[in-house]
Amino acid sequence: MTNEEMITLEKHLKTWTLEAAQLLKDSFQNTLTITYKSHIADLVTDMDKSIEKFFITKIQQTFPEHRVLGEEGYGDEIKGNSKGVIWIIDPIDGTTNFIHQQANFAISIGIYEDGIGKLGLIYDVEGSNLYFAKEGEGAYLNGKKLPKLEEVTLSESVVGVNATWVSPNRRINHEHVQQIIRKSRGTRSYGSAAIELAYVASGRLDAYMTLRLSPWDFAAGLILLNEVGGIVSRTDGEPVQLLEQNSILAAKPGLHKEILDHLI
Ligand code: IPD
Ligand code: CA
Ligand code: CA
Ligand code: CA
Repeated sequence: MTNEEMITLEKHLKTWTLEAAQLLKDSFQNTLTITYKSHIADLVTDMDKSIEKFFITKIQQTFPEHRVLGEEGYGDEIKGNSKGVIWIIDPIDGTTNFIHQQANFAISIGIYEDGIGKLGLIYDVEGSNLYFAKEGEGAYLNGKKLPKLEEVTLSESVVGVNATWVSPNRRINHEHVQQIIRKSRGTRSYGSAAIELAYVASGRLDAYMTLRLSPWDFAAGLILLNEVGGIVSRTDGEPVQLLEQNSILAAKPGLHKEILDHLI
């Protein structure tokens, strides 16, 4: 994309997100239709679906050559092909929070070109906090540039973890996780991967680790973190594969290695 195309894209991305956020806020007045996907804790509402369709309609009208990968499946079949411009959209990240708390949920959108992150946006709807990043130009919170992340040790760190980590788990050695938790200054769990990644990028968390995320959960967060010098890998230290499910360890420099040394 040319610089002019990127500017147009950014303008539409931000405008549509604020429109979508208003639709979500307005929906608090209405009764939600809630259904289950794979199991009783895997919830989806009519708003998850309608917000995804809202973006797809706008994108198809304005950028017909762009493709969309969305959690609710109304976009394109991407099948591992990262060529061209792809919008990776989570219409509501933190659906359980959206339903139970009307807070701590986000719209998360990463725009990639040939697999390279170009624009990343995470909008914490209830908090009205807009996290935005543009490749090579930095990351911003509500228009204010975020500083580069500095090195920190685990004993000085607050780490975002999902409580499922502390139970015996076949995908991770939970004793290693207990060591990390004990050594840290504290742990937090917000229930929205996108917000947790935005918190690492903005320094509200020092690290975030989770066992399995889908592309729409981390696509925007990766772009934000890249702009502030955050380190992101899978929990086995291998690189994250954009179009696949991955475990994720995102952290400040230094801390990423310290946590990884505990994990592997
Ligand atoms: C979920 C949230 C949650 C994470 C799950 C995700 P959803 O996304 O990000 O924090 O632990 O793995 O699936 O379903 O609410 O968009
Ligand atoms: Ca979901
Ligand atoms: Ca999600
Ligand atoms: Ca979602």
